[in-house]
Amino acid sequence: MEKLRVLLIGAAFSADLHSDGYSRMLDKVQIVGICDRNLSRIEELANRYGFTGYTAYDDYDKAIAECQCDLVDICMPNFLHHDVAIKAMNAGRDIICEKPLATTVEDAQDMVDTADKLGKHIYYAEDWLFAPAFRKAMEIINSGKVGKPLYVRARESHCGSHSPFAQTIKYCGGGCMVHLGVHPVSFMLAMKDNKWSELTAMTSGGGENNMVHQQMEGEDWAGAFLRFADGTYATLEANYVTVGGMEDVLDIYCEEGCVHVDLSFSGPVKVFSIPGLDYTVEKAEITTGWSTPAVDEKYNLGYCGEINHFVECCKAGVDAQVGLRGKDGLETLKVINLIYKSAKEGTHIKNDALEA
Ligand SMILES: NC(=O)c1ccc[n+]([C@@H]2O[C@H](COP(=O)([O-])OP(=O)(O)OC[C@H]3O[C@@H](n4cnc5c(N)ncnc54)[C@H](O)[C@@H]3O)[C@@H](O)[C@H]2O)c1
Repeated sequence: MEKLRVLLIGAAFSADLHSDGYSRMLDKVQIVGICDRNLSRIEELANRYGFTGYTAYDDYDKAIAECQCDLVDICMPNFLHHDVAIKAMNAGRDIICEKPLATTVEDAQDMVDTADKLGKHIYYAEDWLFAPAFRKAMEIINSGKVGKPLYVRARESHCGSHSPFAQTIKYCGGGCMVHLGVHPVSFMLAMKDNKWSELTAMTSGGGENNMVHQQMEGEDWAGAFLRFADGTYATLEANYVTVGGMEDVLDIYCEEGCVHVDLSFSGPVKVFSIPGLDYTVEKAEITTGWSTPAVDEKYNLGYCGEINHFVECCKAGVDAQVGLRGKDGLETLKVINLIYKSAKEGTHIKNDALEA
């Protein structure tokens, strides 16, 4: 069977998350190219995951023009997603694009329109939809054994982004809502087939108004209330004021039961260490004392399942499941921009597109 040829663009944090997924399916995938202007990162990444026989590029225009591949995986700063995506699709490739789809709705719309025009697929990398514990929660909801969902509360939070590009709105599109809130927003939209009916929101405002990250242009706290066409309510939250490691939490209250998932702190391993461990969970500042070290963290956060799904879809020439298509990334970005609009203007927003 022919292997799917992948060109990875970006060799930093998210490329590592994706590479873990590829490394588990090297019978189906060949990493034929890796591009990053920092060449040492390429070598480190390839060595970490055992990739061989790839070409290293330090320029993405050259990589897209020269690398013979089927799928371009975009693990670049947010403001470059659009440029890389348009060039890759024009070169005849399907793409995986990290979240958010772009920094502006206009760019995201252009990506989706270009994919439609050229008959290419955009695989939108929303890992929450492949986290095994979240999938189990949805399986239980879909079984009907806890009744109809009435209210969902979901959040992602940690102490702040490591990326220098995350400090400036021009480069990233916003603050913690676009970086972290993108996951609960996408999850909820996928659960309800994008049929939201109204929303209202508040944020810390960014810059000197922030609680902790005053040097950052975007907000360090954001919360949104949404209502969906079937009457379900949701509270979706993101913040950069969480110490102690990344929190991914989902609570679903239903007519005849409830489901609670704590993705990042519910592991089976408990450790007490006086000198501290090498690593416990993503973004934990210290590792001394009691901890719950993550077991196969990238798998349990959904990255491996997501990459496996995209490889299978790309090989079959089909779209991804609901929530992981380019148009879902676009709808998520539209909702996040409306969350920002509501917070800035103090307005309650109705979804005219749904009523039309
Ligand atoms: N799904 C998730 O949980 C998750 C987690 C982290 C990051 N991300 C997303 O992944 C994307 C990348 O973020 P990151 O944290 O991996 O890294 P990053 O934003 O720090 O940079 C990625 C890499 O791109 C390279 N680069 C930048 N400009 C370049 C250029 N013009 N040409 C060639 N290389 C260039 C840099 O050298 C760096 O190695 C972002 O869109 C981010 O939102 C997603």
